[in-house]
Amino acid sequence: MSKRIVVLSTEIANKIAAGEVVERPASIVKELLENSIDAGATDIRVELEKGGCQSIKVIDNGSGIEHEDVPLVFERHATSKIYKFDDIFNVLSFGFRGEAMPSIASVACVELLTRRKNDISGTKAILEAGAIKEVAPAGSPEGTQISVTKIFANVPARRKFLKTEATEQGACLDVVTRLALAHPEIRFKVSANGKEVFTAPEVSDISKRISMIMGDDFSAHCIFVDMQKDNVSLTGFISRPEFTKSNSKSIYLYVNKRFIRDNSVTHAVLSAYRQIIEPRRYPAAVLFLDMPPENVDVNVHPAKLEVRFKNAHGVYELVSKTISQNLAGAETSKGNFIYRLASKDKDKFSYSSLTIREKSPTIPFGMFSRQNLQQAINDDFLKRPVAQKSISTVESDDVRAKETISFTGMKYVGQFANTYLIFENDENLVLIDQHAAHERIILEKLKKTSGEKVVCQSLLIPEIINLTSAQITLFSDYIDFLREIGLEIEIFGRDTIAVKAVPATLAQVKISEMISDIADQLSDQNRMPSLQEKREKILASLACRAAIKANRVLSNEEIAALCRELEATPFNLTCPHGRPITINFSLSEIERMFKRK
Ligand SMILES: Nc1ncnc2c1ncn2[C@@H]1O[C@H](COP(=O)(O)OP(=O)(O)OP(=O)(O)O)[C@@H](O)[C@H]1O
Ligand SMILES: [Mg+2]
Repeated sequence: MSKRIVVLSTEIANKIAAGEVVERPASIVKELLENSIDAGATDIRVELEKGGCQSIKVIDNGSGIEHEDVPLVFERHATSKIYKFDDIFNVLSFGFRGEAMPSIASVACVELLTRRKNDISGTKAILEAGAIKEVAPAGSPEGTQISVTKIFANVPARRKFLKTEATEQGACLDVVTRLALAHPEIRFKVSANGKEVFTAPEVSDISKRISMIMGDDFSAHCIFVDMQKDNVSLTGFISRPEFTKSNSKSIYLYVNKRFIRDNSVTHAVLSAYRQIIEPRRYPAAVLFLDMPPENVDVNVHPAKLEVRFKNAHGVYELVSKTISQNLAGAETSKGNFIYRLASKDKDKFSYSSLTIREKSPTIPFGMFSRQNLQQAINDDFLKRPVAQKSISTVESDDVRAKETISFTGMKYVGQFANTYLIFENDENLVLIDQHAAHERIILEKLKKTSGEKVVCQSLLIPEIINLTSAQITLFSDYIDFLREIGLEIEIFGRDTIAVKAVPATLAQVKISEMISDIADQLSDQNRMPSLQEKREKILASLACRAAIKANRVLSNEEIAALCRELEATPFNLTCPHGRPITINFSLSEIERMFKRK
């Protein structure tokens, strides 16, 4: 029997509609701030309690709202920003749908206090579950203050989806950061539980704001881009190839000052870097696309995070070409960065063969790095007697751990593409990805030390690193975990940490890069459901950073040390990202390929 059709009550319909706009406290912060900016505010304060889960207050010095209009603020489809449909193709304000305030009011309690500049008295309004409880004249400073409390109290299902207070606060601060990056003329201040956590004073130059928010390291390693084609302009800052991040979250894209997510433009950015930064590393960028509003449709997504370009292909080309050209002109700074396109013939390695013997169980579990390679060589690994111990002594109940790699009887043939090590025996040809192998070795070492007695290297002078307030909040939750792996940090104020000790395993990694990778992983909320998974991601990104890079010539001693360590490492068939470390071609496979069989 088919069910009967009923018209939903306004209350239910509003709650459903609110779901599209108000997903979490950060969405409320976004809508309130956008309204303040649309109202011409130059000074905006945000006050969060319990990460925005308990209450959010936004105070601005914008235009204020006329007394008679106040009830309309909470009426669906009531807006002062457009008057006819076609206006949405000319709109430069953030809002135009007239939906944000009624949506917020339907899932929380809202108190509004507002006064226009020349009005003697202001207006106060109180709403509960979308219904107006009170609208009355009231004293008010110039501008608008909106307090939102009992967030999702009447939508318990949504409340359950909220993450920890620190994560929600981080998401709120991300929203402020994105808006602050594009609006240097506005002063932003955020306090959390009464403590100031973010301040961006008004500045005349956008580069000052960007440098303040993206950090000194980015400013020191960025290139200014500025290009016009037809009626589209692209300006902003992109990171030099030596400055990379472990995810793409530091690519900020704006269209007519509106922060957007756009796979195609992001792809254009990444494709320009593809050949010059390591795989699975990402650039940082703040890019502003400006074009006549009629060339971009912002009415695609209720939260207006997605847009549609009239000439998407032209935008892609402009972004990818501008970045490629600027990168081509940028000199890479000295240091450990290697262009992937660097000539392979340079420092040609002589491929003298060497035979790798089975590991000796007494060899200390040293690190494979330039610094302790000498140690490995001194150990004279190659001259050690062949140990009879079986490789499958790895202590783990995971069956995969037992399928481990052994170099017994293998002969080293050479290095291919400065990235893959070639080995052979009578029956097989084996390729080993040097970076993947080393990544796995380091990861297992970090995992092994985590929770046990950690070998760490104390720094004589603590290294001071600047982070954004959102990142600091996230770090504060992970101090103990970081100490477990040998990374000792202390938080100073709202945007600084001091690194006092680093894990000995990672002694060669630049501290600022280590911290930046951890910050990236901590702020990547969407793809990491459990704490355990998050910890593993952090360790994996540190291992990736510390591992020997692809496209690097290795000496025989280095190769020997790598193989020795790899044999002693569990799960040594795949890298932490699940890619294979070795690829095996059996003789019969090769013969089949040559059609001999
Ligand atoms: N801080 C503020 N200062 C001045 N006016 C405001 C403020 N916040 C809201 N308003 C007024 O309330 C109206 C409704 O706000 P609301 O956010 O619901 O809609 P909108 O901004 O017009 O569109 P959208 O739903 O796309 O955000 C706005 O059009 C604006 O006139
Ligand atoms: Mg709005």
